[in-house]
Amino acid sequence: MNLVSPHRVGGYLYLKAKITNLSLIRGLIGLPLFLRMTHGKFLQVFHETDKIDKERLNQYSLRGLYYLYYRSEDREKYIETFLRSTLSIADIKDIEFEKSRLVKEAAIRSVEQVFETQEIDSQNLSWLTLSVNHLTRILTEKNSALLEFLDFELDEGYLSQQAVLTAVFSLAISRSMGVDQPKSFQVIGLGALLHDIGMSRLNFSPHLIERQLYPDEWEEVQGHPKEGAEIASQNPFLHKEVIQIIEQHHERFDGEGYPLKLKGTEIGLATRVVSIADSFAALILPRGGRSRMKWGEAFDVLFQDVGKFDPKILKHFEKKFKKLNS
Ligand SMILES: [Fe+2]
Repeated sequence: MNLVSPHRVGGYLYLKAKITNLSLIRGLIGLPLFLRMTHGKFLQVFHETDKIDKERLNQYSLRGLYYLYYRSEDREKYIETFLRSTLSIADIKDIEFEKSRLVKEAAIRSVEQVFETQEIDSQNLSWLTLSVNHLTRILTEKNSALLEFLDFELDEGYLSQQAVLTAVFSLAISRSMGVDQPKSFQVIGLGALLHDIGMSRLNFSPHLIERQLYPDEWEEVQGHPKEGAEIASQNPFLHKEVIQIIEQHHERFDGEGYPLKLKGTEIGLATRVVSIADSFAALILPRGGRSRMKWGEAFDVLFQDVGKFDPKILKHFEKKFKKLNS
């Protein structure tokens, strides 16, 4: 699946970097950045030893440009630069929203990276883990921090943004259920970030389709939990429960889900949490021509689908969180 609309020119593959993201970087850029010209050529506008120039980025934005480009071989450097900026968030005192935004952006990038490469190598895994740790830390600081993660721009990268929102809700629900072990947060956070990794193997983007899926498309979509588990199993360091979350996230509490038709507590506890968070995140994000739903409405939809979710966890989720954003 092509999430980044790469352009291949002169033997190089150019990937998009949002100008709003670039403006979050502090200090040295660390990689060359290019402007895409109208005739399809790329012009280098920043060298790796340049400092980020917000004024210039602002000028590009004012001209209606949303992206600069970097070469695919610099992808790791780009994420590294991004995470470096995120790591310095401790410097930003009393700007909670900005801190959350930086962490969220880095988490989105780390998921995009996995979707682009369809691989969870040790580098990808360490970025994902770092993102989960940051998200957990912010969510643990205060309950209302959850609200700071809700603003998503969905012009592209639906899956990565949905994954991050699922992780945010999964971590928040777990914490409210009394989970306090870093290891448990890591498992559930990674499982949530990676739950739809199997979608990266599809030849189309179901979330962009506004009609009902055709039977062959639906069949392909139903294969994504297994495909995802297969991708994840290739990394021997990934916790088994993370793979379980990926494989089981479309099972239903009443046994009518897929792919294994597991029932009730045959489905792992962490998966039952992620499954609720996944559905909730999908409802409060705009999708397939539908605008974003209010929380109250989204809870109503979840409760209408009796049998899909663990009723105890769903009730707990509603009780603890509905009032936060009603
Ligand atoms: Fe899924």
